[in-house]
Amino acid sequence: MKAVILVGGEGTRLRPLTYSTVKAMVPVLNKPFIEYVVRYLSNHSIGEIILALGYKPDSITDYFGGASQLDAKLVYSVESIPLGTAGAVKNAGQYVNDTFFVINGDIFTDIDLTDMLDFHKNKGAKVTIALTPVDDPTQFGVVETNNQQRVTRFVEKPSWEQVTSNLINAGVYILEGEILERIPQGKHFMFERDVFPQLLAEGEPVFGYATDTYWIDMGTPEKYLQLNRDLLCGKSAQVAFQAGDIRVDKQSSVHPRAELTGPILMDRDCTISKGVQLKGPVVIGSGCNIHDGAIIESSILWRKVGVGEHAVLKDCIVASDNYIENNACIEGTAINALAKRQSQSTQGQV
Ligand code: GTP
Repeated sequence: MKAVILVGGEGTRLRPLTYSTVKAMVPVLNKPFIEYVVRYLSNHSIGEIILALGYKPDSITDYFGGASQLDAKLVYSVESIPLGTAGAVKNAGQYVNDTFFVINGDIFTDIDLTDMLDFHKNKGAKVTIALTPVDDPTQFGVVETNNQQRVTRFVEKPSWEQVTSNLINAGVYILEGEILERIPQGKHFMFERDVFPQLLAEGEPVFGYATDTYWIDMGTPEKYLQLNRDLLCGKSAQVAFQAGDIRVDKQSSVHPRAELTGPILMDRDCTISKGVQLKGPVVIGSGCNIHDGAIIESSILWRKVGVGEHAVLKDCIVASDNYIENNACIEGTAINALAKRQSQSTQGQV
């Protein structure tokens, strides 16, 4: 079985973090996000994974290199211009055939792909779309199904009066190879807008696989922060971490008069000074220095971040190599000063 991961987007919603790091390489619990997606697919017996790349592909190909330690074979399909979700799969058409998976490269989920594939085959579907429930469907493209789980309608951002379902497209699909024939080569084409509605209109069998297992689109600073917190609190079966866990790398030093409340994950070569308070969920990347009396609560620090004396960070994401000044007090912000060289914006609200 093969799968295409869509990782060619610019990740504009995750700015300013994505000014310096492509979305797929943004660290989640100190590992690039894409690694979770690749392992998830490989754990579901997907033997060949095609990475559909576009925006800044090099950091991703360099990370995996030619010889990955994964069970799955990795193949790269690079677009010279953005082709959209369906156009990207068409562009990778030489690598897929028969039945295959497509997954958005910014989704973290525990959806049981093996069960989804059984569902797809039992229904005789040409397309199966994984569906996930949300509290507020008015912000999303809602998918309606009948009692046979056949998709009957797509409704884009319905008003509350129009809401008949709380299920949305989860960005995980199973497609039959013949769907590729409907997608033009080299043209921008989207599954959600240009392929699935047309299939419905022609009466083709499109099914919805609904599941309330863990699912998140980590494409905004708020959701990215939430994903890290959820994983530290044991909400996904893919990460063995519990709410009270404190895991500090042996090569980091924590002053005896620092106060740590889990869950906390800290990578190597960090120094946590006297009087520091870390109030989990907190993730600290390698080489960070947290100075006397600083307080860090419910935040993510990437690599080589410095936090000055008595600074307070709450609900923040701080990208690599940034320094937070003494006594600064910052809440609900994504900080990436490196972005300053490429854009006026250095901060985004979380
Ligand atoms: P935003 O700019 O924040 O919307 O980010 P995005 O375009 O990266 O994400 P979006 O949610 O719009 O797209 C869903 C997934 O499809 C993401 O993993 C993207 O990387 C990917 N994607 C979007 N457009 C393209 C494209 O033109 N080519 C490829 N290969 N992937 C794409």
